[in-house]
Amino acid sequence: MTTFSTDLALEIYTEDQPGRWPLTYEEWADRARNSLSTEAFDYVAGSAGREETARANRTAFDNWRLRVRMLRTAPERRLHTEILGTPTPGPIMLAPIGVQEILHPAAELASAAAASEAQVPFIASTASSTSLEDIAAVMGEAPRWFQLYPGARHDVDASLIRRAEDAGYSALVVTLDTTLPGFRPRDLAKSYLPFLRGMGLANFRTDPVFRSGVNVDDVAELGREFLRTMLVPHLAWDDVARLIESTRLPVLIKGVLDAEDALIAQSCGAAGIVVSNHGGRQVDGAIGALDALPAIARAVGGEIPVLFDSGIRSGSDVLKAMALGASGVLVGRPYAYGLAVAGAPGVARVIRQMLAEIDSALALSGNKSVADISRDSVVPAGQVTATSIHATTSI
Ligand code: GLV
Repeated sequence: MTTFSTDLALEIYTEDQPGRWPLTYEEWADRARNSLSTEAFDYVAGSAGREETARANRTAFDNWRLRVRMLRTAPERRLHTEILGTPTPGPIMLAPIGVQEILHPAAELASAAAASEAQVPFIASTASSTSLEDIAAVMGEAPRWFQLYPGARHDVDASLIRRAEDAGYSALVVTLDTTLPGFRPRDLAKSYLPFLRGMGLANFRTDPVFRSGVNVDDVAELGREFLRTMLVPHLAWDDVARLIESTRLPVLIKGVLDAEDALIAQSCGAAGIVVSNHGGRQVDGAIGALDALPAIARAVGGEIPVLFDSGIRSGSDVLKAMALGASGVLVGRPYAYGLAVAGAPGVARVIRQMLAEIDSALALSGNKSVADISRDSVVPAGQVTATSIHATTSI
């Protein structure tokens, strides 16, 4: 049970240094832009092509409004959620984001430490700047999952999976939408791909299988080998099924935007789905991720958890995603900006604000628990529901 929103608001209203922390996504992004090189900021902020998918992600949220009911909440709310046995104090996790050294020198060690402190699950990226073992070491027993880009080399995949199992990661998130790099003008214009500069490759530098036969101290060779491993346009569902069978961990399939793909993933043995268009970074002109969510939740949500990312900017976005079928959401760019602004304390602050916003929106729209959020909790923008027109006096 929690009072996240009142605790944080009272703390801010009585603090000596007002304005110390940004409060909205836009402010975090502005502060991050000021503290980063243009290359680094654009790498995180940018998306594919004309960035239409990134805009569609936001339009999809704008098309839904929360229904607001009076006098239905409680002094303390229940935000606690459990997803595939992994508990979280609110229905959020930190999304897998690679190459965090471009944001802050402490990179993932800072984000993972902040996640641990809040007990919010951290999803470590294949392309992290610090090895999955080093991330685990700063997390103690705190909840963590490992994200895997299935590669061209099955032996390297197998090695990374074993390492993740051994380092206490309790689920695997297999990303399917990056079999080729996204076409991202902001990065192309600056010839900026961090991996080719040797960044984001700690898991490969330290991998006994990948290392054999590769001079990992030669940045050009390391980058080239990494790309060779990561480019897998031939990846097939059989490969996914084989990966799922190869681990004792539950496997979530990330990057799903179509109900048929969700059903195929489920038939391959997926334990969960992450509806995502990679924050608009892969296919320009694609469906907004939130627009894809309801059909996928209808197709498989009754049987396996459906998580969501791509476009979450605030606590009310989290509730909208849950109303449309998500069991929880992955928060990406907001925490990347928190890391850029202030390292671990910045990430901790973003997490705390997100939980406070979820709590505030939940309580003030008339709910006691995130479990109260259902399809009836949202209405299409501009539309009034029949139930609100004919509201009874029943309590
Ligand atoms: C890699 O997955 C990226 O989106 O940069």
